[in-house]
Amino acid sequence: MPIRYNLREAPRSGRLPQTQSGESMRIFLGADHAGFELKEHVRRWLMASGYEVTDVGTDGEASVDYPDFARLVAEAVGRRDADFGVLVCGTGLGMAIAANKVPGVRAVPVSDPEIARMSRLHNDANVIALPGRHIAPETAEAVLQAFLTTDFEGGRHQRRLDKIRELEESER
Ligand code: RB5
Repeated sequence: MPIRYNLREAPRSGRLPQTQSGESMRIFLGADHAGFELKEHVRRWLMASGYEVTDVGTDGEASVDYPDFARLVAEAVGRRDADFGVLVCGTGLGMAIAANKVPGVRAVPVSDPEIARMSRLHNDANVIALPGRHIAPETAEAVLQAFLTTDFEGGRHQRRLDKIRELEESER
């Protein structure tokens, strides 16, 4: 059962993160056992930053299968229950591969803030997959900060995303 954390009253920045339409920003968060520790850190950081967080688990270090958690988060993004998804596994790779099977999801495995920024500007990525075993918590914060505060540029990049959507639809 997903756990919903909703702490919006005391963001460190003094300003609540909002969508372009002024709603509070909703994040679905999930991890496997290899990402559990970083997920706990990320959840605390997201909450302290004023995001509305739904944590779908896992809730410990017992071995689990990452596609189960990728699916919960990606489907929430696909049906627009979440503005963004954040996933953590050992490398970020399995989570991204699984999440990208859900229509409408553009999941990226990222461990660098500038790449995170570019994934929003050019790719309108809506799920980020972090490598829990290969990133420092402070770097993960910087990656998320860049990812969650950068808007899609549109223009020629929208045309390219339209082609990705056509590809997705032709494979159904
Ligand atoms: C689990 O051992 C590991 O394979 C998983 O967390 C992830 O890195 C897969 O891509």
